[in-house]
Amino acid sequence: MKTVAIVLAAGVGSRMRDETPKQFAKVAGKTVVEHTLEVFESHPRVDEVFLMVPPSHSELAGAILGRRRFRKVSKLLQGGETRQESSRIGVEATDPTVEFVLVHDAARPFVDHPTIDRILKGLEEAPAVDTVIPTADTIVELDASSPRFIGKIPDRRLLRRGQTPQGFRREILLQAHRKAVASKVADASDDCGLVLRFGLGRVLVVDGSETNIKITVPPDLYVADRIFQLRRADVLAGQTPESIGATLRGLSGKVVVVLGGSEGIGAECVALAKALGAKVHAFSRSATSTDVRSLPAVQAALDSARRESGRVDVVIMTAGVLRMSPLHRASEEEIREQLETNLLGSFFVAKAAAGLLEESKGSLLLFTSSSYTRGRENYSPYSASKAGIVNLVQALGEEWATAGVRVNAVCPERADTPMRWRNFGKEDKATLLSAKAAAALTLIVAALPLSGQVIDVRKRDEAFLEPFYAGAPLARKAG
Ligand code: CTP
Ligand code: MG
Repeated sequence: MKTVAIVLAAGVGSRMRDETPKQFAKVAGKTVVEHTLEVFESHPRVDEVFLMVPPSHSELAGAILGRRRFRKVSKLLQGGETRQESSRIGVEATDPTVEFVLVHDAARPFVDHPTIDRILKGLEEAPAVDTVIPTADTIVELDASSPRFIGKIPDRRLLRRGQTPQGFRREILLQAHRKAVASKVADASDDCGLVLRFGLGRVLVVDGSETNIKITVPPDLYVADRIFQLRRADVLAGQTPESIGATLRGLSGKVVVVLGGSEGIGAECVALAKALGAKVHAFSRSATSTDVRSLPAVQAALDSARRESGRVDVVIMTAGVLRMSPLHRASEEEIREQLETNLLGSFFVAKAAAGLLEESKGSLLLFTSSSYTRGRENYSPYSASKAGIVNLVQALGEEWATAGVRVNAVCPERADTPMRWRNFGKEDKATLLSAKAAAALTLIVAALPLSGQVIDVRKRDEAFLEPFYAGAPLARKAG
């Protein structure tokens, strides 16, 4: 039995007052609807996605789908005059092999896997599930007969704000829409409302999230841009040890180049990629005199890997320098070394790798740090270069999208690496993220179909990642 997500993208967005409907506006490098589709595409329990679009934009939608990134989108349908109508057309297009239907506003690109998980769990208990959040503001109900005055103020503790997705057993949602047609109800702003109205079953509520906003009025686009900037992809959400094991096994036989591969996270990437059966080429200042501050040196390193192995699938740039000191005490050389190695080096690696990765439809991994969102005292050259790397990744995410090349920034929490020991002295190892776990996540990201993202690796992910660098589920391949 299948789960289908109906993504409603057929509105005109009149409150945005823009000719282009809001779901086709570009935010963080992609149209809003692409961001939304990505979430359903990558959810392991969603089998198919139906996309509802306005007739005026079916060509653009076709072009978006034509890039073949969305393998689960099985139907592109023309929506109706109202949201209710679009939703009805979508559910009528499902067949009886479908057990659950999720209905989602395309204008909510921040829907996440945990929310979808909560809805699917809720459907074990109830035939309809709504996603809601508490209301911070007091909600005031106007007096129907004289709406300049308050009629009543409902108890805030029982009030919630409804979001989407909403989830349904298919036959309940079908019935709700058929009854609505029969009784000429056409003004429903959501689908759970119809189930309630016709008394078709109880509607369970599960927690939504404050960031799952519906882009509705012009300032929402600015807010959305900020949320995308600050949001870091949680690639492990919704994944199972089996799905990650399969992802990593995909690296077997691939050609992986690591710059900065002699110590720390770089060295662990080399070791793990080898264990996974990849052909690995490691370069560093100490071992191969490859200084990422020189474009010719980077180019030569990548070209030699390409010559030897015939292709390059993954490029990992872990070379980085941190020299703690207040800026007024840092020497010119120290400032240069950090900005040039961390930031200029990332630019050079990206530039030199672009052609090779286009050839292989491959993946580039750069490294940032949590200091990118806000400068930190005593390491401004480092944190400023890490902020620049995030900006670079976002730009390349756009520039390389049509070529099918992926680029992401890995953002490890305080990690147990020589760079950290040199700058912070002795710290309690138990509080630091292991370099092995950071490497495992780096290779997972290298193999996943995401791009233009900042991916956190946190201490709390270690337990999940441990079996992969220890090798256990990988060995299961034979069995
Ligand atoms: N929607 C739809 N078909 C319609 C109307 C709306 O698929 N005929 C979709 C919208 O594209 C949006 C979601 O339903 O993703 C929520 O609707 P809303 O935020 O109201 O979007 P619009 O109706 O497009 O905007 P507005 O009400 O400002 O005109
Ligand atoms: Mg509307």
